[in-house]
Amino acid sequence: MACPKCAYSILRIPVRILAKLLFVSCLAWIVLTNALLCYLHDGSSPSLSTIPVELTNKDIYFLIAHPDDEVMFFGPTILELSLPKYNNSMNLLCLSTGNGAGLGSTRELELLKSTQILFSLYGSQRPQPVVKIVNDEARFMDTMDAEWDAQLVAEELGLFVKTSDALVITFDEGGVSGHPNHVSLFEGAKVYVSQTPASLYTLSSASSVWEKYSFTLITNWKLFKRLVASRPHSVLAQAFNRRFSPIEVDTLLGGAPVEIYATMNMFLAAVGAMAWGHYSQMVWFRYGWMLLSRYLTFNELRLVQ
Ligand SMILES: *[C@@H]1O[C@H](CO)[C@@H](O)[C@H](O)[C@H]1NC(C)=O
Repeated sequence: MACPKCAYSILRIPVRILAKLLFVSCLAWIVLTNALLCYLHDGSSPSLSTIPVELTNKDIYFLIAHPDDEVMFFGPTILELSLPKYNNSMNLLCLSTGNGAGLGSTRELELLKSTQILFSLYGSQRPQPVVKIVNDEARFMDTMDAEWDAQLVAEELGLFVKTSDALVITFDEGGVSGHPNHVSLFEGAKVYVSQTPASLYTLSSASSVWEKYSFTLITNWKLFKRLVASRPHSVLAQAFNRRFSPIEVDTLLGGAPVEIYATMNMFLAAVGAMAWGHYSQMVWFRYGWMLLSRYLTFNELRLVQ
């Protein structure tokens, strides 16, 4: 016999453990990000990532498929690379209005609102950010199963890019979740860079669903290792290195991936851009998604070409 009450009491313990885990992990993340900010930058910098020189003084072109990709997946990257100290110009090309559920015209406007929030610290002497949305359902239909023609994607990117040595950032071959629209952008961007001097960085897809929804758990571990490495002579580092193998300071040589970590303020800006900018998308499960998704606190970029 069905017994909703029993089901409830069976579920209660794991839910309570999960809630505690998330709470502790969140606190640890706030402490770790702030400690690193103090140690790495005397607390005066809003960022705790190490950005290689290849990602500075550039004309950066983000290539996304739907309004809200920019914040759901690329949030930390956009917030970080638009800081004035990197002297990048920022451009964003979105190849659909996200009209899958008939909300295209609303979502177009929402993308502009979201990018206003994400680009709000942008203050370098570079040209103002440019956002372009392509509304062409014949070529780029927003669906869960249609691939877009790589050649057409490359052409559209070519129409948007204004400089010869552009730097394109888009999804990788995994498309975050295997979404065919996302994967098509990777294929199209590859075609584009093979014909031009532009370079291409891709956002690494999480290796598993556990990593994707790991909240700050994995990120905390990596931040902790960075903290130990940043203070090699501290008691903490000595104890840690005795117990485990010594930790190397991040190296940016030899094409190692670029790791971009959100600070708490960056995370809150991304949540604001999503929750307020993309208001129509805030159905109930998005709140859980935003809380658990690793992409809101961490991005890894890989150089493709
Ligand atoms: C910023 O980047 C542009 C384009 O690469 C360059 O011309 C300019 O000198 C840079 N400004 C600074 C302050 O580095």
